[in-house]
Amino acid sequence: MSNWATVKLEAIVYDYGVEREWLSRPVGALLWGTDTRGLYRTIRTLGVLPAGTAVLDVPCGGGVALRGLRRDQDVRYVAADISPVMLDRTRRQARRLGLRVEAVEADITRLPFPDNEFDVCVSFNGLHCLPDPALAVRDLARCLRPGGRLIGDTIVRGAGWRQDLAIAAFRRVGLFGRGGTTADVKRWLTDAGLRVDRLERSGAVTRFAATR
Ligand SMILES: C[S@@+](CC[C@H](N)C(=O)[O-])C[C@H]1O[C@@H](n2cnc3c(N)ncnc32)[C@H](O)[C@@H]1O
Repeated sequence: MSNWATVKLEAIVYDYGVEREWLSRPVGALLWGTDTRGLYRTIRTLGVLPAGTAVLDVPCGGGVALRGLRRDQDVRYVAADISPVMLDRTRRQARRLGLRVEAVEADITRLPFPDNEFDVCVSFNGLHCLPDPALAVRDLARCLRPGGRLIGDTIVRGAGWRQDLAIAAFRRVGLFGRGGTTADVKRWLTDAGLRVDRLERSGAVTRFAATR
């Protein structure tokens, strides 16, 4: 289990930043050398998911991805995270936006959902926080129906020495896990039986899309 299950201040500070595009943009550029606009662009694509789509968002954090949904959109949206603090924020965000969201406390490596349950899994900024990201990707793939899609992003090693130092520092305080490089992300996806449709790095952030 990572420190995220118990930390409070760190979770709130992170979520405060990511919920504000004007703030996450300079922080993302300075700390990770990334253009965070790509994250919000991907999130906006959730708004065109057809009626009846079942979506799993894990780790949902404070619910940053909810902004991509429309109030009148007929989707089943399940938001899961190991942190009760983050789940409370997601519930509040859902209420603010007038959305129906099932918030579930869960470990991404042991998801409490049946096989083939979801059409889409989204996983933003989470895999680098885990002790075993490959295991998490395998469980996400298990929860996807055949033909379902996994989209997300994760911080990766190998973008530059400053970013690698930052990763090492977050690891020391238990907020980051083993992580990997972009090549590792590709391997986690393919080893889980997914076809990689998109894999691109922006600074120390690798964005991916894959199909089961
Ligand atoms: C950096 S935040 C990203 C959250 C959100 N997707 C976002 O982009 O803002 C990482 C999240 O991973 C969650 N987390 C860490 N380990 C987890 C695990 N084993 N299972 C589920 N969630 C986990 C944390 O509680 C935290 O909310």
